Amino acid sequence: MAERKTLRCDIAGIDVVSLAEQFGTPLYVYDAETIRLRFNELRKFDVVRYAQKACSNLAILSLLRQLGALVDAVSAGEIHRALVAGYPAAGDPPPIVYTADIFDRDSLELVVEKGIHVNCGSRDMIQQLGERAPGREITLRINPGFGHGHSRKTNTGGEFSKHGIWFKELGEALAQAKELGLSVTGLHMHIGSGSDFEHLAKVCSAMEEVAFAVGPSVRTISAGGGLPIPYRDSDQRIDLERYFELWNTTRRKLESAFGHLVRLEIEPGRYLVAEAGYLVTEIRAVKKQADNLFYLVDAGFNNLARPVMYGAYHPISVVPRDRNFARPEYDVIVGGPLCESGDIFTQEEGGVVVTRRLPQASVGDYLVIECAGAYGFVMGSNYNAKPLCAEVLIDGGRPQLIRRRQSYRELWEGESIPQG
Ligand code: LLP
Repeated sequence: MAERKTLRCDIAGIDVVSLAEQFGTPLYVYDAETIRLRFNELRKFDVVRYAQKACSNLAILSLLRQLGALVDAVSAGEIHRALVAGYPAAGDPPPIVYTADIFDRDSLELVVEKGIHVNCGSRDMIQQLGERAPGREITLRINPGFGHGHSRKTNTGGEFSKHGIWFKELGEALAQAKELGLSVTGLHMHIGSGSDFEHLAKVCSAMEEVAFAVGPSVRTISAGGGLPIPYRDSDQRIDLERYFELWNTTRRKLESAFGHLVRLEIEPGRYLVAEAGYLVTEIRAVKKQADNLFYLVDAGFNNLARPVMYGAYHPISVVPRDRNFARPEYDVIVGGPLCESGDIFTQEEGGVVVTRRLPQASVGDYLVIECAGAYGFVMGSNYNAKPLCAEVLIDGGRPQLIRRRQSYRELWEGESIPQG
């Protein structure tokens, strides 16, 4: 990939300084055009089911719905979000699929009441749904016994993963579904496959094996999510053609064995929104600790948790308020405002603090943390009593507020001090 610039003045053609002045910082800014571009690249799949856990703002859901994406939900809250964003509860293919390893009481109630399709990741889910809603069609999320992921915390298959029905228990799961009057119409494997094609080929053959064991009732297979994006300059963009072909071959094999069409779904989160999202933050202090230069900004891991949780790398650029682009570069550590030593954006897995080569900057300049659209805002918190930040969507050259900044009052809303 071409080297990214470490100085910028705009996001999707809109001046960053004016965005910061209008909406305040820290601020998430999303570019609708990038989401469209990424969605269009995936149109070969019969269904692109957006994994909204990556970024579930109603405006983003609505944009993807209008593009033709269906949606995945992992909680009652995400089902409600999808409904509010205009997705119908039921249909063929199901507009909303609830994929999880458990039902909490709210989600079970909601899927039963609204007729939401369920992708079961445990035999207890089959049992609980079957008892409440016999006659339903379900899909099964299978753990094929191996996994892959960008870090130990995101590995989603294998014996230490909690996700999916263990492949060796397929027979029991099918018998249980049958007894409860549920029909298994599809299979799902999300094992964080990334762009390792050797690994992906293993997943495809595991899918074939499981599908043949289930038989011709299988009408849908889902490749799950996990499509990677290039966070670093050295990361390659995934070869989507090759990715599709591997899954398509599996689908064709099933179609010819079963004698009917098999729908191929993909369930990306990151791929659709990561590159569209930017976290805009203001530099509030520049200091030296011995030889180390720190830029301390007003965003912390309460806004973007990926660096502290996974040692994740995000590109960073400086927005010079005075528009002077002739700046020397330094090795810098970028940290946030939280009262916590780990509140550092430039760190590797295991909490090792590293430096980033960035242009000289001063208090009042802005930093843009890039590729932050997926698992950014949604993993934010109120830690240190910081209000959740605002979100803005730029579409057609127009920035629009899609979530206002949380107020201080909202921080303690719902709390009470016991009387007497
Ligand atoms: N489908 C299922 C069943 C999933 O569990 C996930 C992600 C996806 C789809 C979407 O995966 P994606 O295409 O976005 O990679 N917080 C972590 C990622 C956790 C992913 C959890 N499951 C991060 O910031 O990297």
